Amino acid sequence: MRNKFALTRRGFLMSAAALAASSDAFGVGMQPHAPRMASETFNPDVDLELVCKRDLVPVLPGKPTQVWRYSGNLLKGPEQTLTAPPDSYLGPLLRLTKGQKVRIRLRNELPEQTITHWHGLHVPMDADGHPMAAIESGQTYVYEFEVKNRASFNFYHPHTHEATATQVYHGLAGGILIEDEEERALGLPSGAYEIPLVIQDRSFDDANQLAYWGGMHRNMFGFYGERILVNGRPNYTIDVDSRTYRLRLLNGSNARIYKLMWDDGTPLTVIGVDGGLLEKPEKRPYVMFAPAERIDLWVDFSGRPVGSKLVMRSGEFSGLVPPMAQRMMGGGLFVGDDYPLFAATVTRAVSDSPKLPEKLATIRHSRREELANPDRPRPIALTMGHMQLALNGRTYESDNVMDIERIPVGTTQLFEIYHDHGGGMGGMGMGGMGMGGGMMGGMGGMGMMGMMDMAHPVHLHGEPFEVLSRVYEGRDADAYATVRDGLIDSGLKDTVLVGPGEVIRIAKPFNDYKGRFMYHCHNLEHEDMGMMREFSVE
Ligand code: C2O
Ligand code: CU
Ligand code: CU
Repeated sequence: MRNKFALTRRGFLMSAAALAASSDAFGVGMQPHAPRMASETFNPDVDLELVCKRDLVPVLPGKPTQVWRYSGNLLKGPEQTLTAPPDSYLGPLLRLTKGQKVRIRLRNELPEQTITHWHGLHVPMDADGHPMAAIESGQTYVYEFEVKNRASFNFYHPHTHEATATQVYHGLAGGILIEDEEERALGLPSGAYEIPLVIQDRSFDDANQLAYWGGMHRNMFGFYGERILVNGRPNYTIDVDSRTYRLRLLNGSNARIYKLMWDDGTPLTVIGVDGGLLEKPEKRPYVMFAPAERIDLWVDFSGRPVGSKLVMRSGEFSGLVPPMAQRMMGGGLFVGDDYPLFAATVTRAVSDSPKLPEKLATIRHSRREELANPDRPRPIALTMGHMQLALNGRTYESDNVMDIERIPVGTTQLFEIYHDHGGGMGGMGMGGMGMGGGMMGGMGGMGMMGMMDMAHPVHLHGEPFEVLSRVYEGRDADAYATVRDGLIDSGLKDTVLVGPGEVIRIAKPFNDYKGRFMYHCHNLEHEDMGMMREFSVE
């Protein structure tokens, strides 16, 4: 049997070197650990430098906190391209426009290697932050790409082999707002009326320093911090006028899943998700919000008196994290309990307020005849075998693509994502394509493995995908009822929460770029444990 733990960081580096020696391993001209230089033929509209470095920032009252963060420096481009969130460890917010040519020079001033991924952006492999491209301390990696995405809220974060969770946890992350003509024409709230909100959880020791505790349980279930931070600050409150706002939420937590709800029972009006605006607004009593997901909210404060306060809470739910883990992690801020996230206080009365458009966008849906494999979905089985989380029975390998992971470029593929507790022996890779995921999913909740059942936010790099169906075949209908009405599957997604017992079908395009693109669980501890694979688009 293959040793699933063989990929220690050292082992990985050695195999990367071996790969560099064998000429065609990448097939796309990328040399692992060779920092990429600026090219002379690329003429950027935006040119900026991002430095990963250690820093000291105020977070809690008293002593400042040692963090790792991105700091930015605009070399060329419109002034609004870079804005630093005040008093925060978060990196600068990048504002980009569809069609722009962007160069980002990433400099590593950390004491270890790193690489950055532009989550949600549809870019070539050598601009995607593949773990193979990690640079050493002191080196610079130059990214060059064109912004192909429609208007959407994305983010950047490290994608370092086995160190993504710790690097993100210590502060490395920032938002990317992309704008386009289609969205601008709607006249949605903008400027001071559009507020990005990055929600994260952290724990601190007595000296106000970040504590990343939890040991083996943390690796198994993910990290759950005991404090909520929004844009890097505790007890976050926004002062608002009595009018309409657009709140752009990003779940930047390592593992924590939220159930967003307003404390006064006002339904949430969702206008967009990961890949941009929905076709039309959707009202929900609550919205489930998994790591890496984005939720674009239309919030109308008009008619609320000055001094009134609206609180966004995370409401109670069950079934997504094993009960034993739920009570073990989070230092009192247990996932699935009810607790506040941030507040909005009305401080000024105004009369003008834009109206919510009935139609927001046109999304081109992929039709059945456009799918390369309409009757044989490719599996993404979330497997748990021998205490090892994996995808399709295999953990991350830098040089071993399975047949089901080879994708012809220019196709749209049907995938079926489901839980498989049937042993995780890698059998799915051996021609299990199209295997009834329903049957396997239905086994969730049985026996020993049932205790480990948990939801996984599954992320695919590259172009966003469409969720075609979500079927619940699990056994705990009561638990499922606490989350069901908050699952939003319309619009374009790049991360989808897959609960125990769910079978989800997606249509995912692979256009333009050949190369290796990751897919993984965005519970960052799971990702680092190996719950990550890559597609070879060829
Ligand atoms: Cu946000 Cu591959 O990750
Ligand atoms: Cu990504
Ligand atoms: Cu996971």
